[in-house]
Amino acid sequence: MSTLIRMVYISTTTHPVSDYVGGVQKDVGRILMQARRNNPTDKVGGVLYFSNNYFFQCLEGEQQAVNNLYKKILHDPRHNNVQTVLVKRIDKRQFANWSMKYVASRDKVTQLLLEHGLREFNPYEFDEVMIEKMLALFTSVEDGTGNADQDYDRHESTSKPIGLWSRLFNRSKAA
Ligand SMILES: Cc1cc2nc3c(=O)[nH]c(=O)nc-3n(C[C@H](O)[C@H](O)[C@H](O)COP(=O)(O)O)c2cc1C
Repeated sequence: MSTLIRMVYISTTTHPVSDYVGGVQKDVGRILMQARRNNPTDKVGGVLYFSNNYFFQCLEGEQQAVNNLYKKILHDPRHNNVQTVLVKRIDKRQFANWSMKYVASRDKVTQLLLEHGLREFNPYEFDEVMIEKMLALFTSVEDGTGNADQDYDRHESTSKPIGLWSRLFNRSKAA
C-alpha cells in the first residue's frame, strides 16, 4: 500500500548572506540542482523557499522516499537547527508538477506576513495556520528559475478504477 506524505521543515543557513546587498545565497542554486536531479528518481517533489537566512522546504512523496531524503538533508552542513513543522498523510500532492519548485519572489510573502502582523520572514515563529498559508501561496506563485518538470499525479492515478464516463467513452470509441 502506498502512503503519500507531505512534510515541511525549516532550517537556518550556515552561510548567511546580507539581504541588504540583495545577496543570492550561493548554496541555493546548488541545492536546487541536486533536488531537480535526484528527486524525480524517487518521485519526490515540493517547494523550497529561502529568505532572511532561513530555509522553508516542503517535501511530498512516498513516506519511505521522503524519510530517506530527509535523513540526508538533516545531515547537510549547509544548514542547521532543522525542525520538522508539519508531517501529514495526503491523498493528493500540492506540488505534483515539481521535482522542486523554487519561489524567488519575496513580495507576496512579505504581503502575507504583514497581513498576519509579522514584519520579517522567521518560520520558527509560524503556527500551523501560517505554514498552510505559506504552502498555499507557494502553490500559486511562479517559479522564476524553471518550469514545472513532473507529472506525479499521472503515475499515482494509474491504479484508480476506471470511471463510468471513461468506460462509456472507450466503448463508443471501440464501436
Ligand atoms: C535546505 C536543503 C534542501 C535540500 N533539498 C534537497 C532535495 O530536495 N533533494 C535532494 O536530493 N537533495 C537536497 N538537498 C541536498 C542533500 O542534503 C544532499 O546534499 C544531496 O541529496 C546529495 O545528493 P548527491 O548524492 O547527488 O550528491 C538539500 C539540502 C539542503 C541544505
